[in-house]
Amino acid sequence: HGFDQSEIDHNSCEKALNNQIRIEAESSQVYLSMASWAEVKGLEGVAGFMYGHSDEERMHMLKLVKYVNERGGHAQISDLKAPE
Ligand SMILES: [Fe+2]
Repeated sequence: HGFDQSEIDHNSCEKALNNQIRIEAESSQVYLSMASWAEVKGLEGVAGFMYGHSDEERMHMLKLVKYVNERGGHAQISDLKAPE
């Protein structure tokens, strides 16, 4: 039998959510990299702000992971490139 429309919508929605999961993970990684850079430079305040922001982006990612899985999808956790 062919796909029905709701199945197609469901799959493309899951794809979009998985893409967003990767974007949140990557931005968490970028802030983490800036936090570490600032910390090594002795910029405590900047480092603290960046660590906090990294945590926030990770929380966004985790919310999406749980949402996809709870709705019967499978959240994809992909490799991340090291930020430049
Ligand atoms: Fe975010």
